[in-house]
Amino acid sequence: MRRQPSMLYLRPFMPLIVGLSLGFTLCLVCLPLLEEGCTSEGSVDQVARLRKPNSVQESSQDVLQNYNDDDFEPRIITNPKPVKSGGKQPFRARYISTELGIREKLVVGVVTSRESLDTVAVALNKTLAHYIHKLLYFTGTRNVKAPGGMYVVTHGDDRPVWEMAQTIRYINDHFHKDYDWTYLVTDNTYVQGDRVTNIFDHISMNRDVYMGKRAPFKDMDGYYCKIGHGVVLSHSVMSALQRHLDGCMETILDLQPDEWLGRCLHDVMGISCVEEFEGIDYNTYEFSSATDPDNEDSQEFQKAHTVHPIVEPTDFYRLHRRFAHIELDLAYSEIENIKAQIKNLSHKTPEGEAGLTWPIGINPPFKPQSRFDVLSWDYFTETHLYTCPDGAPKCELHGIDKMDVDDIIGTSVQRLNDKYKKQGLTFDHVRLLNGYRRFDPTRGMEYELDLLVGETGPDNLRDVVTKRVKLLRPLSQVEIIPMPYVTETTRLYVILPVTVHDREQVAKFLDSYAQVVLDIHENSMLTVVFIYDPLDAQNIQEEDVFGMLKSMITYYERKYPNAKIPWISIKTDVPTQLKIMDIISKKHPVDALFLLVTVTDELTIEFLNRCRMNTIAGWQAFFPIHFAQYSPELVYDTKPYPATVEFGREFGHFDVHAFDEACFYNSDYMTTRTELQKQRKDNEDVSETYNLYEMFLKHSNLHVFRAVEPDLRQRYMPRTCNPHLSEDLYHSCLVSQAEGLASKEQLAKLIFEHDNEIKSQSENVVKS
Ligand SMILES: *[C@@H]1O[C@H](CO)[C@@H](O)[C@H](O)[C@H]1NC(C)=O
Ligand SMILES: *[C@@H]1O[C@H](CO)[C@@H](O)[C@H](O)[C@H]1NC(C)=O
Repeated sequence: MRRQPSMLYLRPFMPLIVGLSLGFTLCLVCLPLLEEGCTSEGSVDQVARLRKPNSVQESSQDVLQNYNDDDFEPRIITNPKPVKSGGKQPFRARYISTELGIREKLVVGVVTSRESLDTVAVALNKTLAHYIHKLLYFTGTRNVKAPGGMYVVTHGDDRPVWEMAQTIRYINDHFHKDYDWTYLVTDNTYVQGDRVTNIFDHISMNRDVYMGKRAPFKDMDGYYCKIGHGVVLSHSVMSALQRHLDGCMETILDLQPDEWLGRCLHDVMGISCVEEFEGIDYNTYEFSSATDPDNEDSQEFQKAHTVHPIVEPTDFYRLHRRFAHIELDLAYSEIENIKAQIKNLSHKTPEGEAGLTWPIGINPPFKPQSRFDVLSWDYFTETHLYTCPDGAPKCELHGIDKMDVDDIIGTSVQRLNDKYKKQGLTFDHVRLLNGYRRFDPTRGMEYELDLLVGETGPDNLRDVVTKRVKLLRPLSQVEIIPMPYVTETTRLYVILPVTVHDREQVAKFLDSYAQVVLDIHENSMLTVVFIYDPLDAQNIQEEDVFGMLKSMITYYERKYPNAKIPWISIKTDVPTQLKIMDIISKKHPVDALFLLVTVTDELTIEFLNRCRMNTIAGWQAFFPIHFAQYSPELVYDTKPYPATVEFGREFGHFDVHAFDEACFYNSDYMTTRTELQKQRKDNEDVSETYNLYEMFLKHSNLHVFRAVEPDLRQRYMPRTCNPHLSEDLYHSCLVSQAEGLASKEQLAKLIFEHDNEIKSQSENVVKS
C-alpha cells in the first residue's frame, strides 16, 4: 500500500538530481579536452572571457600572453616593502553618511528682498519650512534683520542677475557636497511642499534636470524656467554651473535673472527647461486677483506644485489650507482605491476571499497556535469592568478606561448614523448591553458591542433596537524617539536613609550590598543617612541610637579596604525625600548620579545598571516600581521563610503607590528644586508636601520614567505612615500599607478560614 517514502520526497528534486549528475559527468568528459586545449588559442580566449565577465576592458592580447606564458612561475617575495601611501593618514569621517557619501535630498533657495522678508517670506516659511531639510533665503541688501528661525544670506548687491549668480555660488560652496537637489524660487510663490519633495523621490539625481515652468527665449530657440514658479536643478547641473558660472557672468546681458540662468545652461550644457521629466510633471498655476483659493476647482489648480504670484501673506495660508484639503482627499481616495485592489486580488490568495479580514489593509487578527496563547476578551458595561487587576471580579470604570468606553460608544452611534443616513434613519444611544474588548498585539484594540439604540425613521417614529457593532482602534505608526547616549560606567551614589525604626534591617542591607557591590568592585558608593528624631538627638551623648550601626559600617570598611561608606546624621521628625536630598545634594558633585534606596531593598547588579541606563542628565529621571514582598506570615504556611524575596504573584506585588527608589542626577535635582521653591511664595517649606516623583513630574522638563523593575525587590516591613506628611503622600502611604499585606485573594481566604474556625469553636461549645 505504502509507497516508498524516500522516493516520495525525492520526486520533486528528480530533475535537479539528474541535472547535477549530468553536469558532473559532462565536466569530467570536458576536462581533459580543455587541458589539451590550453595551447589552442581559441579555447584560451574562452577561458579568459569566462573568468572575467564584468571587469574593465583589458586588451585580449595581454590576457592571451599571460595564459600562453609557459614559463610563468609564482614568485615568492621575501621582505616586502610597505607601500607608501604618500605619508597621508587615511581620512576617517566622523559620520557614516560622510564616509559613504550619503547626501541629503533637497536644498531650497528662496530669493527674497528686504521689503518682503517680513511679509511674504515669513508666510512662505510657515507654509513650506516643515517639508524641507534646508531652506535658505537670499537677499541683495545688507543689514536686513532676519525673522526668527530663518537662515538669511545677504550678498550686498542688488543687481538681479548678480544676485542669482551669487545665490547659486553660495549653494554650491556650502551645500553641493551634501545635497542632491537644488530648488530655487522667489518669495512671492506658494510652494506645495509635499508635491515638490515628492518629485525628488522619483527622479535619479545624476540626470541633467532643469525643470520648471517654461518660457521661450526671445532671440533664439529653446526655453528657460521662470524662477517665479520654481526651478529644479539636479546635482549634475549644479556641478556644471559651479565650473562655468564665471564664464556666464561675463556675458551678463540685460536679462532677467531666470532667463540669464537658462541661457547659461543652454550655452554650457545645451539643455533647455522642461516641464516633464521621466514621467514626472511639473505643474504650475498662475494666480490672479480673480482667483479664490478656497473655491478654485480647475484641474490646473488642483495639480499645481506652485502658485504664483502672490502678494498677500494671507493668500499663502488660504492656499495652504486648500491644498491640505486636496491632499487629504487624495489620500482618502487612494486608501479606498488600495482597499478595492486588495479586495480584487483576494481571490488569488490561498485562502480565497474568505481570507480577507476586516478592516481591509490592517493586519489580520492574531491566530493562536495553542490554547495557551488565546487572547481573551474582557467584558465591560458602561460603568464597570469585569476583568480587574488583582483578580477582583468587578471594578468601576474610571479614568482612561471610562474615556475609552465613552469614546467607542460615541463613535459607534456616529458610524451608524453615517451608514443609514441614506435610508433616512437616525440613531441615538440608549444603553450599552454588552461590551467586549481585547488587545491584539498585531493590530490594536478590538471591541465588540451590543448597543441598545433608538432608531428614528423617516416617518419620525422612534423604535428601540439592538445593534451589534465591531470596532478596531488600530496601532498607528511606530515612532522612534532619539535619546542621548548613556553608558553603564557612570559612578552611582547610593543613598540609604535610616530611621530608628529601620535599625534591624540595616545589617541585612549591608550584607547584600557587600555581596552585590563591594565583592566585585562595582562602581558605586554608599552613603548612609542617619535620621535622628529630636529626642534621640538630645540624648546622643548618653546613648547613640545608631551606635551599633556605625561600628558595623566600620567593620565593612575594614573588610573592604578600598570601600568607603560615609555616613551623615540629620535631625528631623518628618524625614522626607526632599529634606534628605537637600542635604545630600550639597555634599556631592553636581554631575553625581544618585540612587535613593530603602533599607528593605535587595539590590542587584542588573538593577544598578538599569538605573544608570535609564537616567539621563538633563533629560530623564527614573522611578522604578519595586516588587514588594507580602507579609511572609500571611503568605507562607510554614517557617522558615526564605531569606530572599521570592518572585511570583503569591509572594508579592509591584507597588505602584510607593515612590521609595529614584535615580536622578544631582544637577537635575538642584535645578528642579530651585524651580519648585521659586514658584512658592513666602519661602513656604515644600519639603513635606512633595516627594521626589511629584517634584520632577510637576516642576521640571525631564521625562519622568516609571516602570516595573523585577530586579528590585523589597523585603516586607510594616510601613509606618507619618501623619505629618501632606495629605496626598499620607494617603498613598496608607494605600501602599494596606495593599502590601497580601493579595486580596489570600486575605479573603484567611478571613474565611478564621470565620470557619470561630464557627466550629462555637459549635463545639454548643455541643458540649
Ligand atoms: C521658519 O520655519 C522654521 C522651521 O519650521 C521655524 O523654526 C521658524 O520659526 C520659522 N520662522 C518664522 C519667522 O516663521
Ligand atoms: C477589479 O476587477 C475588475 C474585474 O476584474 C476590474 O474591472 C476593476 O477595475 C478592478 N478594480 C480595481 C480597483 O482594480
